[in-house]
Amino acid sequence: MTQVKKAIIPAAGLGTRFLPATKALPKEMLPIVDKPTIQYIVEEAIESGIEDIIIVTGKGKRAIEDHFDQSLELEETLEKKEKYDLLEKVKESSNVDIHYIRQKEPNGLGHAVWCARKFIGDDPFAVLLGDDIVRAETPGLKQLINQYEATGKSVIGVQTVPYGETNRYGIIDPTDQDGRLYKVNQFVEKPVLGEEPSNLAIMGRYILNPEIMDYLDDQEIGAGNEIQLTDAIQRLNENQSVFAYDFEGRRYDVGEIKGYLKTMIEMSLEREDIRDDLLKFMERVVE
Ligand code: UTP
Repeated sequence: MTQVKKAIIPAAGLGTRFLPATKALPKEMLPIVDKPTIQYIVEEAIESGIEDIIIVTGKGKRAIEDHFDQSLELEETLEKKEKYDLLEKVKESSNVDIHYIRQKEPNGLGHAVWCARKFIGDDPFAVLLGDDIVRAETPGLKQLINQYEATGKSVIGVQTVPYGETNRYGIIDPTDQDGRLYKVNQFVEKPVLGEEPSNLAIMGRYILNPEIMDYLDDQEIGAGNEIQLTDAIQRLNENQSVFAYDFEGRRYDVGEIKGYLKTMIEMSLEREDIRDDLLKFMERVVE
């Protein structure tokens, strides 16, 4: 079986939930403590054994390319100032080989994935959303790759969400269950509340067989007037089973303001150099 070595990171969305911050700054570049969101995602891909990454970008996303590029000027300045710790951190972000493709218009996640079809060719591939951070003992994506290697079928990462929130996600209608692995009857994008087939939601991590691109070729517009990846996955599922895997670990939705702030606070409190000061400050402001 071909191994999963390629990954697509779609990062061409408008980020409207973060306007006006995202007018000129990609939301994938918003920092969590001192690292941009997208770097956490690239690191998860690499730790999962991915060797080739393509980021789908769009208008106003140049900062992503600059971030992963080498900045000789900055490196020289840090070296002169003997700031070796920072120099190491800066070098880390330019150590990976990343490819880019532009999505001319943000027509939806399905369309963004389809834009990378030539890079994918006939290989199975991973998709990691540019605004979902996953932290787990075994990287979230690696858990899905393990399932792909055991079944040879596409595997979609899911986790349970509260019933009142199912209309924000792609939701699965599971049939058989084997531990954390589900066979799926249907994948439904943003079901109306009360009509959701379960509360198992798609969480920004996918392993897909290349045939998905054939369905994306002629995928019709779906929920939110966008070409939805979930709709193409459902059509693939009708012809070759697509599994869902309830992966272990925590997923942080940093694409919306409250989720972003909570993630920032949690990860800041984990940092020894920040924790005590921040806690004292928080006590003062809630007095
Ligand atoms: P989201 O729906 O969360 O991103 O897509 P968005 O559309 O930018 O966000 P809001 O709702 O306007 O605030 C999930 C991921 O898919 C990418 C986004 O950049 C994000 O990382 N995406 C979405 C694309 O690459 N292209 C699209 O057309 C839509």
